[in-house]
Amino acid sequence: MIIAIDGPAATGKSTTAKALAERLGFTYLDTGAMYRAITLLILQKKVQIGENFALISLLKKFDLKIQQHEKQILVILNGEDVSNEIRRLDVTKYVSEVSALSAVRKSLVKIQRKIAKDQNCVVEGRDIGTIVFPDAEVKFYVVADYDVRAKRRLLDFKKLGEEKSIDELIEELKNRDKYDSEREHSPLLKANDAIEVDTTNLTIEEQVNFMFKKVKLIKG
Ligand code: DC
Repeated sequence: MIIAIDGPAATGKSTTAKALAERLGFTYLDTGAMYRAITLLILQKKVQIGENFALISLLKKFDLKIQQHEKQILVILNGEDVSNEIRRLDVTKYVSEVSALSAVRKSLVKIQRKIAKDQNCVVEGRDIGTIVFPDAEVKFYVVADYDVRAKRRLLDFKKLGEEKSIDELIEELKNRDKYDSEREHSPLLKANDAIEVDTTNLTIEEQVNFMFKKVKLIKG
């Protein structure tokens, strides 16, 4: 069984998806982490971002694994644990551009389908309910107001020792949403049959409860 969770950045998607997977005893697959890992690889190898020969050959020979270690999700790129590095500011800066490339998407969607083939999964991303698993049994689309999203982002940045104003963060989120929604390949889009969850005024516990109940209602 596949539960697809899509939506823009900083809406509380990841925290909820992870907690929901735990509660259901499902595997949690964070596809954003996979796009981040490829972005890191491109930066490490100093490959120019764009559809080019160097990118295509890079995509032919990378090894990416998502492993669950106790409560932690580890992202292993070419044998190395890059779970922390993929959250770096430079990776965050370039990941939208990298994830807009069709060759990158093709390669990662293949891996995502393979991982979820034989197990129950909560899969989180931007195109899960529309492109990767259009037949997912339950689909959620998570949204929240810009103010709340910016405040959540502020906390993430503080952890990284980075100072930004709320206005600056709102502007960045708006630009990112626009870029992700208007890109040619697999734009960020709510699937027709997705349940919208507005997390603006919800606690994490409330979000998870709401989604858990919906899953039980639909699937018993
Ligand atoms: O969820 P996140 O912020 O870690 O995702 C990082 C980037 O990856 C974000 O800019 C959108 C992109 N992404 C995507 O294009 N498709 C997905 N299925 C998941 C993430």
